[in-house]
Amino acid sequence: MYEEFYGFKELPFNVTPDPKFLYRSSSHRDALAYITYGVFQKKGFIALTGEVGVGKTTIVNAFVDLFQPSLEVSFIFSTKFPFEQLLFLICSDFGLEVDGMNKAQMFLHLNKFLIEQYENKRNTVLIIDEAQNLSVEVLEELRMLSNLETRNKKLIQIMLVGQPELETILDLKQLRQLRQRIPLLFRIPVLTHDDLSKYIDYRLKIAGRGSKTPHFTSDSIEEIYHYSRGIPRLINVLCDRVLLAGYDSNVRTIDARIVRGGIRDLENETVRAVGGIGKSI
Ligand SMILES: Nc1ncnc2c1ncn2[C@@H]1O[C@H](COP(=O)(O)OP(=O)(O)O)[C@@H](O)[C@H]1O
Ligand SMILES: [Mg+2]
Repeated sequence: MYEEFYGFKELPFNVTPDPKFLYRSSSHRDALAYITYGVFQKKGFIALTGEVGVGKTTIVNAFVDLFQPSLEVSFIFSTKFPFEQLLFLICSDFGLEVDGMNKAQMFLHLNKFLIEQYENKRNTVLIIDEAQNLSVEVLEELRMLSNLETRNKKLIQIMLVGQPELETILDLKQLRQLRQRIPLLFRIPVLTHDDLSKYIDYRLKIAGRGSKTPHFTSDSIEEIYHYSRGIPRLINVLCDRVLLAGYDSNVRTIDARIVRGGIRDLENETVRAVGGIGKSI
């Protein structure tokens, strides 16, 4: 690929949620501060929402990396599991042996584990990513799980991370008891126009800046902003594409024309993909 041409140690615009690349815009900083506060103040529930690709998983990974030594974490990617299966996954992810146990037994086992962690001054955190997929029933059961406490301190902090639909679900009347437990809900906004060039710059720096590092002109930044609307995942997909185009044409200055070419390529691919699905139906 193009790493050598630009002198990168690694690809700057991967779409993996790697916390090493986290550019701390003021809203990403606030999000990190919010979850840190929620976990260490033992608020019980924390909710973090945002559009697809805005950086939710990356922020949570950054939080776990920062505080790893003092945390006991179970990280679940939610699908539409019934609660019993979810509980099994949670326990297993905490390293508990729960094979063959029923719901009540798993619950007891988990409770014992949580008390041990509490006595060892470790913070236990359950992170559920893509939490907009959870059913109302499962959310209610999670509220029961969060009832585990000693002397007013919650034994487990439950972080619900999901797309904005999660906010609508939490506002449902049946879930008002749960909603009341969430003191504050944080929605990560898209990057501002001002942040965009700093974001690109930061990722280029982490990938390895040198004499061969590409230069994005201010016109190219305008085009990227227009296309991505400040969503990091879209920025990455487009920037990866334009760097490849730069490499193909042997140029290290990325201008608006190259970006427009990249956007056209991506749009054509989307049309082809949609067309392909259409045919196979
Ligand atoms: N503040 C940020 N700094 C650097 N990269 C980011 C930032 N926010 C998001 N990204 C990148 O955007 C992509 C999508 O982020 P991700 O955390 O998967 O989004 P979400 O979980 O909200 O869908 C990832 O490649 C991630 O590294
Ligand atoms: Mg995610």
